[in-house]
Amino acid sequence: MSPTRRGVLAGALALAACDRAPAAAVAGPDLAPLRASAPFPVGVSGMTAQLDDPAWAGLVTRHFGRLTPEWEMKLEAFLPGDDDRLDFSRADRLVAWAEARGLAVFGHTLVWYAQTAPRFEQLDGAGARFERAYADYVTAIARRYRGRVVGWDVVNEPIRDDGEGLRESLWSRNLRPVEHIRLAFDLARAADPDAVLFLNDYNLETSPAKRRAFLRLAETLLAAGAPLGGLGTQTHVDCALPAGAIRAAVADLAALGLPVHVSEIDVSTDRGDPARQPAIYAEAVEAMAALPPAQRFGVTVWGARDGDSWLRRGGEHNPLRPDRPLLFDDAARPKPAASAFAAALP
Ligand code: G3I
Repeated sequence: MSPTRRGVLAGALALAACDRAPAAAVAGPDLAPLRASAPFPVGVSGMTAQLDDPAWAGLVTRHFGRLTPEWEMKLEAFLPGDDDRLDFSRADRLVAWAEARGLAVFGHTLVWYAQTAPRFEQLDGAGARFERAYADYVTAIARRYRGRVVGWDVVNEPIRDDGEGLRESLWSRNLRPVEHIRLAFDLARAADPDAVLFLNDYNLETSPAKRRAFLRLAETLLAAGAPLGGLGTQTHVDCALPAGAIRAAVADLAALGLPVHVSEIDVSTDRGDPARQPAIYAEAVEAMAALPPAQRFGVTVWGARDGDSWLRRGGEHNPLRPDRPLLFDDAARPKPAASAFAAALP
């Protein structure tokens, strides 16, 4: 008798309860490809450093249908030097790798407060010359990958962590807070008429103030006629996340009628009860599946195996108690979270 989905989910939750058991004891069965039965794209972040790892490549091509470059489509990769020469090599390699394997690519990210380059710092306060450099950059990137990405995070993390309005940045200082965002969307649309253009941010599940400010910005852009085409909620959460938080955030974002992207989900086991992890991933899947089809832009996991996670590279990483935030363990075996993700698919 084939296990019911509910039964698999219950099994995954039970397995997770022994989350502290050796990895082999919690690895789920060989999982059917997640992307095959999902009513929305299932994405994963990836990096050029992983492309030659057969275990990573096999897992990604089996379960995921879309790749978000983890850092190679950011300013730090495109403008690595002190001059204005653009380096497309890393992004080109990732995009070609994905295309050769039938994976779509989602561009992340054109404008981010967290990354600038000497090219722009030297033009700080230079007025029209700064704007020209900004326009040239956004246009060059969006134009190069026209037809090769399904969408872009045009502006990433525009809202202050306290939710009290927009972040201050080199971009906002030189081109004004909302105007630089509007300009980036207009430039991206002019360079790529078909890409879905997103605003993306984090902590929208845990900070009502930040979620309200994010939605206010989206409404302002829409009212001004900006080509805003979707809303991304990164969903970097942990096992202490209250049940229903993801569902509420996705529903709030969807109320504007645009596609919604759970764009970077990981569920850290560093806080809360690790046994909650499968249910949290299941909630994200159910929230996405509950949207009207046109709004289901998809769920993207921020890494394939636990060891691929940025959380394992951060300074606060504890090697004696490694974080296990993703769907597959260090050996690429499905965890209870992966089984729960699959069981939650309609
Ligand atoms: O591996 C390369 C190395 O070959 C190269 O020589 C070196 C030069 O700087 O860079 C190394 O790559 C690093 C990369 O992570 C892989 O470890 C980059 O320096 C480093 O900046 C990059 O950090 C990424 C970070 O964004 C900044 O771009 C993380 O991987 C990535 O997970 C993180 O992702 C962010 C999202 O974009 C936005 N939401 C939050 C999320 C987590 O911080």
